[in-house]
Amino acid sequence: MPNERPPRPSDRGGASRPSSAFRPARAIRAPQPPSPRYAAQQVLHQVLDRRRPLDEAILEEPSWTKIHGRDRGFARVLVTTVLRRLGQIDDALGHFVQREPEGKDAYVKNVLRLAAAQLMFLDTPPHAAVDQATSMTRGTGMKSMVNAVLRRLSEARGTLFKEQDADKLNVPDWLWRSWCDAYGEPTTRAIIRAQIQEPPLDITLRAGEHPDIWAERLKGRLMPTGTIRIPRASHVPSLLGFGQGAWWVQDAAAALPAKLMGDVAGKTIVDLAAAPGGKTLQMVAAGAKVIAVDQSRERLERLFENLERTNLSADTDVADGRYWKPRTPVDAVLLDVPCTTTGTARRHPDVIWNKTPAAVASISQMQDALLKNAATMVKPGGMLVYACCSLQPEEGVKRIEGFLRRRPNWARQPVGKGEIPGTADFVTADGDLRTLPSHWPGQGGIDGFYMARLVHKGPVKDSSEGST
Ligand SMILES: C[S@@+](CC[C@H](N)C(=O)[O-])C[C@H]1O[C@@H](n2cnc3c(N)ncnc32)[C@H](O)[C@@H]1O
Repeated sequence: MPNERPPRPSDRGGASRPSSAFRPARAIRAPQPPSPRYAAQQVLHQVLDRRRPLDEAILEEPSWTKIHGRDRGFARVLVTTVLRRLGQIDDALGHFVQREPEGKDAYVKNVLRLAAAQLMFLDTPPHAAVDQATSMTRGTGMKSMVNAVLRRLSEARGTLFKEQDADKLNVPDWLWRSWCDAYGEPTTRAIIRAQIQEPPLDITLRAGEHPDIWAERLKGRLMPTGTIRIPRASHVPSLLGFGQGAWWVQDAAAALPAKLMGDVAGKTIVDLAAAPGGKTLQMVAAGAKVIAVDQSRERLERLFENLERTNLSADTDVADGRYWKPRTPVDAVLLDVPCTTTGTARRHPDVIWNKTPAAVASISQMQDALLKNAATMVKPGGMLVYACCSLQPEEGVKRIEGFLRRRPNWARQPVGKGEIPGTADFVTADGDLRTLPSHWPGQGGIDGFYMARLVHKGPVKDSSEGST
């Protein structure tokens, strides 16, 4: 066995970095018609070598648009399996690849990863996985190497599995350390195991719709928080009730911040950083007058579509939430901050490899600025709910602790253990909510979210003006 192996993603503190030494995948001519494996390879190249978000890479990849139905589903399984198991895959390949493919060829590297995913995790017959990979690397000068590496991997995979610390390999070191510090090692392992499972589809019903009836119609399960969970759903728009706006797609954790607002009927609420609008829809359907503000016009378009489909209405504004103000102070603000989204890796496995400690530091400054401005919008006695779909404490509880330290006229309004059915396990010692992907084990998990509910105590002098 060679002892030289290519560096694993965890060695680099993140994904393979874009490098001018990589021969771009595009140098290889696309097969006609494109195969799912080729489309998957192209998308992987964009995500891992160019750090593009997975959803955008898929939307923009020409070969992906030319595959359909089962082929597209297969391509998606290939890509998500590589991203969820990247550490294990690179570690396994590292036992057999003498050195990184000559010229650091990104194309060959990703073909190897895709084939390894099939051999190790997808029960693809070895001859099929190996033959496809060798035929995809014809003309690269590395076909024989690919063939030899994959044959040896196929023979040794059983032993390799036993040797690997899969949990630790499947996240970069900085995330492993951060989560172990925040949640302890056993919970970190449980989070990582939950994140590599295919998540169910969660939907939120429009207020007034009957949960039991819809759970039965959609062959779903009513979760204790009111979300309907559908184990497998392929094409969302064809599901019963979608076209008529009876429900919208929303992870069970993402549905909780609006519930923390309590009875919103008749209240005026600013939804700051609102698009694509899941929380706006919840609050409007429950009788609130909502002003939905987001700086992205494109994402607000999706909010308009959602409002139209559900026959609900809200005021909207395209604006930077760090500076925007309502005409008069409002009853409440829901601030669902932009973040590194590390709590959503079940659905977006690319975030594990493409976010960095520097991104956490940079986005937390934006979160402080949004929080500071949000606080100026609320009437005395009014409420501010802060929500964030990151697992990093620097984007969650640390932002709130800093905010409360600087603002004596604000206080936590702790969430009671029995306040929202099904959330007792999520309530922290401070009375915030902290969901983890490892919650609801055996039932499909839940996205990682942090939420805090704050109340404006009145006109005590704000000691922090001018600071963040
Ligand atoms: C977590 S998403 C919001 C999800 C939304 N609340 C929902 O439930 O559908 C964060 C949003 O923040 C927006 N955003 C980022 N920076 C912003 C800023 N400075 N001002 C306003 N919106 C911003 C992004 O465009 C994105 O839509």
